[in-house]
Amino acid sequence: MPKPKLLITRRVYDPVLQSLSGVFDIGHNQDRDEPFTRSELIQKLADVDYLLCSVVDRIDEEILAAAPKLKCIANGAVGTNNIDLKACSARGIVVTNTPDVLTETTADFAWALLMATARRLTEAEHYLRQGHWRGWSFDQLAGVDVHGTTLGILGMGRIGSAIARRAQGFGMSVVYHNRRPASDASLARYVEKEALFKSADFVVLVVPYSPETHHIVGAGELSLMKPSACLINIARGGVVDDKALVQALSTGTIRAAGLDVFEGEPALDPGFLELSNVVLTPHIASSTRATRGAMMQLAADNLLAHAQGQALLTPVI
Ligand code: GLV
Repeated sequence: MPKPKLLITRRVYDPVLQSLSGVFDIGHNQDRDEPFTRSELIQKLADVDYLLCSVVDRIDEEILAAAPKLKCIANGAVGTNNIDLKACSARGIVVTNTPDVLTETTADFAWALLMATARRLTEAEHYLRQGHWRGWSFDQLAGVDVHGTTLGILGMGRIGSAIARRAQGFGMSVVYHNRRPASDASLARYVEKEALFKSADFVVLVVPYSPETHHIVGAGELSLMKPSACLINIARGGVVDDKALVQALSTGTIRAAGLDVFEGEPALDPGFLELSNVVLTPHIASSTRATRGAMMQLAADNLLAHAQGQALLTPVI
């Protein structure tokens, strides 16, 4: 029997590729590792049964229509907003994601961004590297304290809870808002969304992106925040109205922001580049070698399970 055909859209670590090679006839992107264009994807999917893709591959009706044999999509991410799940369902295509394996690493990164934002880390490094440092002074690059303040978490899922756990070490009070109060949120107090924006010194966004969460943080929410507060986004671009955020950062509506995701990334609002009170990173919250390896392998293991008639490990639909 010929092996089923698998397309892997981005470079994966060698052991992951090896684990798949006995079962699948693989089309890969190991040499180039740039996203396929829409027309490349459409052409490459014509006779493919399985797809291992990433957050930058938009899998919509047009793409699915070009992939009549597709049975299973493994998204190498926990978020699946890049995939039209309804359209997959309608075609009987199953979809998997990569929860759990990235929870702790992503929570670590939320803290890295929060600390860097509070203590002006990247701004301080630029200052030093650019040769501006003439010696110590009392008010030099003074930031804000993290310990003893209030952390507000919008989206109390697995990653939100892991962020809350870390806040205990900083003696912070933690409030959160979710569509529904979380069942296991003993480290944080549920508040309405408005109260979260008003009371938190640091607001961390961890909500999945969907039409309901599009621009869940816009000019209105930013104006509720304290002028001393910082906003941290590790969720998705589109959750924040970036134009409104540039405005709020420029005018002092809020103090600072730490952003790992952007509307329309890899492009970003040029306004951010003009500002010194924003820490910018290129969507790397889950990016440690160990965790990215675990994400790739979990995606691969889901495909192997499907091809071998076993239950999917982490099905979305
Ligand atoms: C990354 O952004 C993910 O959803 O895993």
